[in-house]
Amino acid sequence: MPIVYHEHTKVFHIHNRYFSYIIDVLRNGQIGQLYFGAPLKDRENFTHMQVNERRDMDPCVYEGDQSFSLEDTKQEYPVTGNGDLRNMAATVVNPDGSRYADFKYVSHVVTPGKPKLEGLPATYVEDDAEAETLTITLVDEVTKAELELSYTLYADRPVLARNARFVNHGERELVLDAAMSANIDLPDARWNMLDFTGAWGRERHLDERPLKTGVQSIYSLRGHSSHQFNPFLILKRPETTETAGECFGVSLVYSGNFLGQVEVDNYHVTRVMMGVHPEGFAWRLGPGATFQTPEAVIVYSADGLNHMSQAYHELYRTRLARGYWRDRPRPVLINSWESTYMRFDEDKVYGIAAKAHELGVDLFVLDDGWFGHRDNDESSLGDWFADPKKLPNGVEGLARRITALGMKFGLWFEPEMISKDSRLYEAHPEWMIRVPDRTPLHGRNQFELDFTKPEVVDYIAEQMEKILGTGLVSYVKWDMNRSMTDVFSQGRPAGFQGEVYHRQILGVYALYERLTSKFPEVLFESCASGGGRFDAGMLYYAPQGWISDDSDAIERLKIQYGTSFGYPISSMGSHVSAVPNHQVFRRTPLKTRADVAYFGTFGYELDVNKIPPEEQEEIRAQIRFFKDHYDLIAHGTFYRLISPFGANPVGLQEGAETAWMVVSPDRSRALVGYYRAHQPVNEGYRSLRLAGLDPEREYEVHDTAYRMPQVDGETFYGDELMHRGFDVSDSGFGPWTTWIYQGDYQSRLFEITAR
Ligand code: GLA
Repeated sequence: MPIVYHEHTKVFHIHNRYFSYIIDVLRNGQIGQLYFGAPLKDRENFTHMQVNERRDMDPCVYEGDQSFSLEDTKQEYPVTGNGDLRNMAATVVNPDGSRYADFKYVSHVVTPGKPKLEGLPATYVEDDAEAETLTITLVDEVTKAELELSYTLYADRPVLARNARFVNHGERELVLDAAMSANIDLPDARWNMLDFTGAWGRERHLDERPLKTGVQSIYSLRGHSSHQFNPFLILKRPETTETAGECFGVSLVYSGNFLGQVEVDNYHVTRVMMGVHPEGFAWRLGPGATFQTPEAVIVYSADGLNHMSQAYHELYRTRLARGYWRDRPRPVLINSWESTYMRFDEDKVYGIAAKAHELGVDLFVLDDGWFGHRDNDESSLGDWFADPKKLPNGVEGLARRITALGMKFGLWFEPEMISKDSRLYEAHPEWMIRVPDRTPLHGRNQFELDFTKPEVVDYIAEQMEKILGTGLVSYVKWDMNRSMTDVFSQGRPAGFQGEVYHRQILGVYALYERLTSKFPEVLFESCASGGGRFDAGMLYYAPQGWISDDSDAIERLKIQYGTSFGYPISSMGSHVSAVPNHQVFRRTPLKTRADVAYFGTFGYELDVNKIPPEEQEEIRAQIRFFKDHYDLIAHGTFYRLISPFGANPVGLQEGAETAWMVVSPDRSRALVGYYRAHQPVNEGYRSLRLAGLDPEREYEVHDTAYRMPQVDGETFYGDELMHRGFDVSDSGFGPWTTWIYQGDYQSRLFEITAR
């Protein structure tokens, strides 16, 4: 696994069998970017790749020499002040107000393994042999500010993890006005950008656009990574598909404001950067102080999008997620939210739990409404003690009854929030984020606690520790239901206020770290009005996250499909909910709801006492099925086959079909989900082609619910299943076709087993 430095040419070649990443020390001591792509044979010199044409009006570095301008140089980490007039990765404001830093190469070191990032989530190694880290140190001679650029290359993964760190070795305070995690300058612009956009209820829908001259970006200025954009983007060649062609992803391991920006300059150079959003960010770097950027994880694939996604899945499932639950089977849960909302008492929720337990559910989760006097969303956030009206025997009383059933008990919290109608607000109005003399804006009638203050984080930690310390709570749903506004820490000086957005998230991470290390066996699930903070940062603390408040199976196809580009299915909280669905009022078959939810962390969110006995039996069978296939689903390789976002070859209405599958690591088993939103009539032939199987092996195909003419009892070699596929047409032509599923919102689940 080499990170090679060619002393003579000052070229670093970071490469493994998946990709090469080549940078060099430029004439002026800064770092240039030479190549990122398919692996290249190592050689002494790659500097010819840096082609510098002389351009009119270029600001030049050396007087009397017009051949060197940063404006026309592909760079690794451009910093304001050196004549590059494009968008910058970092800006340092000096004591005299000048915006200038000239970071020049001083030294570098290559170390085995991967160092931890202090206070921030990041990918890790379990053994130093898994990766190597290159750290390049650059110094600004005038201010003595230091910049460390760090690159971790995993030996057996197409992964490069980057971050930047600033240290002030000078005697005067500097201010960082921007400090991105990574930048890459690429020599052409023939790329399409894929990103994941949405809003509440429709998170992470796939969006694709060809790059154009100028800036295209995704971002959040909401204080959390947001429903609107995810801190993850992909560049792919226009011809790249799921199974072939070049692409790479840039994923930020961070949960706050971010900017993912792709700038195409007027000479077709593509500058990709990702990091904390510079807007609202001004970090004081006093003498001796450091600033550590979050990590950006770059994954390269020469073989299509599925391969790129699979590398993220593997990495995030096994080297970002941590702890007791990382590799253990997660419990099948039932959550109370959509069955009771805030209207419940102990007996009612106990009744739901008892029935669910009888059907095979492992864990009952009591959602919002159990604390203070919370009958609606206008009160009680911050008062983390049981409402005696609903829970006369406290959380403990209910938890004891539920655990006596042989079931686990889980609880909802929203730790970062405060209601004005709360004892906490009466005691500590100064703990609320707000601008003095301005009326603070509410979101869902609530306000944000100031997590930049350690005493606030401590107080909330103590409240939660009291409850978790009983040992009766095995799961926490950590919610967060409003965006940040009025960004101001009361009682703090003006210079502090540009640090509040980032320090708030550091406070959230500190609380997560404290609770997860104190209660290692408690399973944490992150949530933010559904998927408003579903990001790689959260996965470090909570191995699963609620991906959306939209629990409709057909809507979930898009949400799960989009999410799968950057995140493993083992991280996607997915539940079967009631019909008509509470968000879109659609009636989908119970089978379809489960066939979608199986491809995630499986659970239920409905009142099991209110459904007919035959559906209760169906649920019992579903849970058995999920548990029997847990290993395959959670640890298998996930492939996207047909996109719900359209591009269907023939026939069906755009996006009417969706298909995906998981394949066991030894390729002996697979599970295929095929979903058809609309019933066609007298339609053309369609076949479903699979992926990831062994072409040489013989497989049996079994529809878990229907008899399949021409398929049942047959076996096929893997090559045929992948290149020809099998028929899934359904003409919907007359009542005699009852052998097959009919109507809208149908699904089929195929088990593929090697003989
Ligand atoms: C958010 C969550 C839901 C539920 C409610 C409770 O919207 O996403 O799952 O917990 O809050 O108020």
